[in-house]
Amino acid sequence: VTKAPPLTREDLLAFDRDDPLAHVRDEFDINPDVVYLDGNSLGVPPRGVAQRVAAVIEEEWRGGLIRSWNAAGWIDAPARVGAKLARMLGADGDEVVVADSTSVNLFKLLTAALRTRPGRHVVLTEDANFPTDLYIADGVASLLRSEGVSVRRVPRERLPDALDDSVAVLYLTHAHYTTGRLHDMRALTEAAHRVGALALWDLSHSAGAVPVDLHAADADLAVGCGYKYLNGGPGAPAYLFVARRLQESLEAVLPGWMGHAAPFEFSATYRPASGVLRHLCGTPPIISLAALEVAVDLWLRIDMTAVRSKSMRLCDLFIALVDERCAAHGFEVVSPRDATVRGWQVSLRHDEGYAIMQALIDRGVIGDFRAPDVMRFGFAAPYTRHVDVWDAVDALCVVMERGLWREPRYATRAAVT
Ligand SMILES: Cc1ncc(COP(=O)(O)O)c(C=O)c1O
Repeated sequence: VTKAPPLTREDLLAFDRDDPLAHVRDEFDINPDVVYLDGNSLGVPPRGVAQRVAAVIEEEWRGGLIRSWNAAGWIDAPARVGAKLARMLGADGDEVVVADSTSVNLFKLLTAALRTRPGRHVVLTEDANFPTDLYIADGVASLLRSEGVSVRRVPRERLPDALDDSVAVLYLTHAHYTTGRLHDMRALTEAAHRVGALALWDLSHSAGAVPVDLHAADADLAVGCGYKYLNGGPGAPAYLFVARRLQESLEAVLPGWMGHAAPFEFSATYRPASGVLRHLCGTPPIISLAALEVAVDLWLRIDMTAVRSKSMRLCDLFIALVDERCAAHGFEVVSPRDATVRGWQVSLRHDEGYAIMQALIDRGVIGDFRAPDVMRFGFAAPYTRHVDVWDAVDALCVVMERGLWREPRYATRAAVT
């Protein structure tokens, strides 16, 4: 077998010329001075978002004032944007609503789910789940301790064996935040259903990154983040999904007025809105919702199958180039090498990962760092070029070969890494 010749920068430029998604990059407002590989933490702004937000402020807020709750459709925005998002999630429009943060939505749905499973007390999760997911589960368990609720944390490979008839909720993140490794949502949901448990999925690292089909997986409940892969802007509101079959039995655990059947009756008694809308709590953040809606409208025009195959290829190329060009520098690829079980990020482990990432950022290649030692590189297919992969690895080689990461200023950790 003859070995393929090493890739060159020209090869990657040629891949860009043949890229069916190349034109989609123009739909985003890209900072041309950097190679941005952190859309898994904060997506770039869609083109048009600044104009839309300015119009909301100028026309709807300054001009329309309070009238805009009706006239500009502000009051319907959580359901309207949720219905659009549902199309990306393989759900129906009335199963998704935009609300709160992912953490708050995890609290609401986990608590509500436990209430539908009296006699079962265990929340089963992966021990390496995202910290907020773990903290919220522990918080819920501590609130419901008198009812015997507890959290069972196990390594991911032991999840199927840990499912038994004490489990009320299987509570997982679909794509892992450090490695990008995907769970088999369908198989695990089926296993949860076999023992009579519900499955609650955190889609923060999958919606927008990989095709998601909640109906095909028969998922019960899901939540996810608006500011990462979906490009909704810093602190964009999150979303939640409740399968229609559960909607009427699932109580609102934070029964705020926006989840009331008729908030403007100002009744002293809570009456839940029907369906998923009862999980709204307080007044929606209209300016952030407007930005998110621009992003979701853009996503609905993007071919997700093409996104998936391009991001698999970008990640494969990154791994191949790191193997080929950085072998001497002690990086360990901690993301799966098998693209079919990986989202669109590649993580490298290195003892000096924080300093190396800071040195890279100073050279215009932006990824991020997750303690204790993982550097994350996200390859958002809608706006990342193949040549960006080359340039990122090139910068990594320079940082390592010249020891640039050793500069003392890179040793001090910032508040956000
Ligand atoms: C898997 C996962 N869930 C939840 C969150 C946090 O969500 P929020 O800040 O909306 O509460 C994150 C943030 O990185 C995450 O990666």
